[in-house]
Amino acid sequence: MAAEGKDGIARIFERVLRDFRPTYNEVKAAESVSNDLMLRLKKALPRNVEIILAGSVARGTQISGNSDIDIFLLFPREMKKEEMEKEGMKVARGVIDRKRGESAVIKYAEHPYLQLISKKPPIKADIVPAFKIRDSFERGSSVDRTQLHNDFVLKHLSTRQKDDVRLLKVLMKFHNVYGAEAERGGFSGYLCELLVHHYGSFSAVLEAFARLRPPLCINAKERKTISDALLFRRFCSDFVVIDPTDKDRNVAAAVSKSALARFVLVSRMFLQNPTIKFFYGVEYSDERSTAKLKKIAAGMGTDAYFATFKVPDIARDIIFQQLAKFTTRLGERLAKSHFEPVLSLYNAEGTAAVAAFFINKGSAASVVKAGPEVFLKDAPNAFIKAHRLTFIRDYRLVSVDKAAYRTPMGLFRDELRAGLPSYLRGAAIRVNMVPEKHAKLIYRKYMEATNI
Ligand code: CTP
Ligand code: MG
Repeated sequence: MAAEGKDGIARIFERVLRDFRPTYNEVKAAESVSNDLMLRLKKALPRNVEIILAGSVARGTQISGNSDIDIFLLFPREMKKEEMEKEGMKVARGVIDRKRGESAVIKYAEHPYLQLISKKPPIKADIVPAFKIRDSFERGSSVDRTQLHNDFVLKHLSTRQKDDVRLLKVLMKFHNVYGAEAERGGFSGYLCELLVHHYGSFSAVLEAFARLRPPLCINAKERKTISDALLFRRFCSDFVVIDPTDKDRNVAAAVSKSALARFVLVSRMFLQNPTIKFFYGVEYSDERSTAKLKKIAAGMGTDAYFATFKVPDIARDIIFQQLAKFTTRLGERLAKSHFEPVLSLYNAEGTAAVAAFFINKGSAASVVKAGPEVFLKDAPNAFIKAHRLTFIRDYRLVSVDKAAYRTPMGLFRDELRAGLPSYLRGAAIRVNMVPEKHAKLIYRKYMEATNI
């Protein structure tokens, strides 16, 4: 351990907690909003519907500034799913009090829920209709499991460990690996809670990940690690944390390889040199991002190709999935045409979406392809006939053809014409110049990606 030593580390943790443990006032404000809302909901619902507070606010693992409330309406399991949703949404909409400046938006997870936005105090509350269940085999949907998560965390985490969850969330947040959304592909709040439970403390989580070499499978219920190749195959992942409330679910399913890698690196670097700055994001300005990206591209000797889109205001997860698909496919096609991107990034906000590809400058006039060995009987003749120019290299034929695309631009145009994922609309391609709005989105992702 470096200069700071164990005491130093404890001091760092205390200092971070002082900043990120919600204040008394924040806790009280969230409590008053949730109590009041739950009372209003109770009045509007039949008696056989249970109302519970779930999520990190209920468990005492929220971080300051994010006291968003999760309220679940638990309907009897006998009800039809459609009926439960309809009834739940109706009641939720009914309790919004516009006179108090409350408003609401309908959101979609596995099924719809209502997000109530309170202006004073400024708190968001998700009101989620679900089924009341006692065990995961009764489960109707993954939303129904949340109540079981609540019970598990409340029963198994001590006050100290709840603070440890906060430290873990803060560290992950500032290194952009917190959150299971498609955009992040990171660690969910519940996963953080299970990791602290399994390893015992925040420091123990860091020590374990600093030494990690996948595969890793954690049975969180029994606090054991398992090595079973079949398990990894079953979950199609080499990082598995089995949900203690449902043995068929991998709580770490959303964690991407690069998020896991980033967290391993952060854990190791922090333990090697424990300083407080690990818990606070790097400060940077995104002013004049267009100019900044130009410089970045020039520094790498690349051109920056930007594909901009207009997207509908729907679930962010869907937009990010489509952007990811588009970027991967285009990247592969570029690589096949000798224009492999040095770096590609994408981002979206509101109705603007953009993908950027940094590609080495220059053009490709010819493409070379290795053909069959000359000893084969028929293949060489066919190969010679099929190509413009053929050479022999060692035992093989090698063809040289005119490149289908001399520059990436033609390929971009063809790709856009060939059809895009459904929500990426109004596509435009620009080289080295992009409106500031889009440039900011890409510059932020660049800063996140290179913050190592
Ligand atoms: N949940 C889950 N899997 C997800 C997202 C949510 O199981 N990918 C469940 C968890 O039980 C979680 C609850 O839904 O606790 C509420 O979700 P969310 O507010 O996203 O997470 P929190 O645990 O409340 O963490 P945060 O402090 O970030 O709000
Ligand atoms: Mg929450």
